[in-house]
Amino acid sequence: MSNSTKQDVYNRIFDGFQKMSKQDIVIAPWLATDDGQERLSKTLKLQLKQHARDLAASCRDSEVFWTDVHLTPEFRERAFYEVLLSTAANLSYLRLGTLIITEEMVSVSNSLLRDHLGNSGSTALLSVYARVITYLNNQLLLYYGEVTEETFVSGKWHRPWIDYSLGHELNSAIEYGFMEQIVRNGQRLIRLTAVGEELYRECRNDLEKCGYIMQREQLTRAANFTNMDDYEKILERIVSNIHERRKLLIEWSDIKPGIKVLELGCGTGSLTLEDGLYEVVGNNGNVIATDPSVGMLERAKVKLSSFGAKNVQFRQAPAESIPFHDNSFDAVVGMLFLHFTDIRKTLQEIHRVLKPGGTFTTVYVLNFSNEEDFFTEWFEPVFNMGLAARDSVILPTSEEVPSIAGRYFDHFEHETQEWMADSSEVEDVVKFLVEAGTMAELNELPLEARKTLFRELIDRGYSVKQKYGAAARKRSQAVQWFKGTVAK
Ligand SMILES: C[S@@+](CC[C@H](N)C(=O)[O-])C[C@H]1O[C@@H](n2cnc3c(N)ncnc32)[C@H](O)[C@@H]1O
Repeated sequence: MSNSTKQDVYNRIFDGFQKMSKQDIVIAPWLATDDGQERLSKTLKLQLKQHARDLAASCRDSEVFWTDVHLTPEFRERAFYEVLLSTAANLSYLRLGTLIITEEMVSVSNSLLRDHLGNSGSTALLSVYARVITYLNNQLLLYYGEVTEETFVSGKWHRPWIDYSLGHELNSAIEYGFMEQIVRNGQRLIRLTAVGEELYRECRNDLEKCGYIMQREQLTRAANFTNMDDYEKILERIVSNIHERRKLLIEWSDIKPGIKVLELGCGTGSLTLEDGLYEVVGNNGNVIATDPSVGMLERAKVKLSSFGAKNVQFRQAPAESIPFHDNSFDAVVGMLFLHFTDIRKTLQEIHRVLKPGGTFTTVYVLNFSNEEDFFTEWFEPVFNMGLAARDSVILPTSEEVPSIAGRYFDHFEHETQEWMADSSEVEDVVKFLVEAGTMAELNELPLEARKTLFRELIDRGYSVKQKYGAAARKRSQAVQWFKGTVAK
């Protein structure tokens, strides 16, 4: 494809993605299933299918927008169904705090998509959708090298939410030279061609540049934190003295009674509630604590009622997009959240909402230094993946935040420390590092590979524990404390 055509495709993806995101329309159908179990009733599924059919029937665009998929009526209908499904799942999650899809959100999702298509047409949205599925199909083949035709067309390893065959996608990918079929020992196998590998990189690059990859990670992480019912116990077992460390952060923040504080990435509200931030600001001040995970906030709200702290409010929001006016807080704090965010965007937002002279204090995890043999051996499959092509979502190095901070803070200081992490509970460690997304590399794997690796890491954890004995219990993890003040 010529460069100008590539640029044109990218512009459409970018444009489509921006418009969709503004209207809360997402492509994340995996949110609607839990290990193969659908999070919606049969009746609602039928309703969504009917909505998709109606939207496809009223759609007039007939432009061929991307060369490796044929814009058939079935393709359009399936795309609309998956977008409706994803949007309903995300809305149920965001507005109602549940991953189970409700009837009301099915109807809201339908109105949103109908308005979007009415205003913007379908070409841009279908371009994003086509990029996403091409990316997922090619990612599967790149990861496994080759898979049986049956595995590919059933989608069970990489698109388990579909109930149709991917035969037509396979045929057009073969027709365009992106995939090839070989027969070995009587088995039909599919693999990528060199041009297909190139296409994978192009798709990934487009999806990264327009923000889709970051959005996908955020949605997945927020949902995983929501599902982690035992979060607090796990954290207390893994990070020793977590409560003392939170209290130290509050002390270091110089928070005075009567001021207005924003806590970011608050989780279940431990810093604000049991570790005492709300008491420090007192009755004349207040704390607004935010987190993107609805499940974490639900647990925080239950705690809030038992604390009876009238000066505290919880609110759902990612740190990259803070739902408050400029200059509205005297201080911003947050414990162990910054490394999950797009650091640049988060610091920019913090700078925006802080009043002149306001401070931001935090402590975050730094990139794994891989020093302990047992840990390197345990997580070797992840460290060896070599997929960490991105800056923004992989754990920061000790230079990263300080190198950006000068742009947003007049004065800042930082200190790197080693914390002891307890690794004796194998499942806890794997769950925390993998499911909650600290090892962002794993988002680069097809769904099935991620599940297999999760099980493999648990098995490896037990063998390593046996091999290294007591030495496999303690691990040191580098963290960085940071305090920045904006100009007066
Ligand atoms: C390790 S927990 C820390 C929670 C809490 N601060 C504490 O001290 O227990 C990380 C938190 O960051 C949140 N998080 C993940 N992505 C985020 C984002 N983009 N913006 C803000 N918080 C985020 C998670 O939902 C989770 O609650």
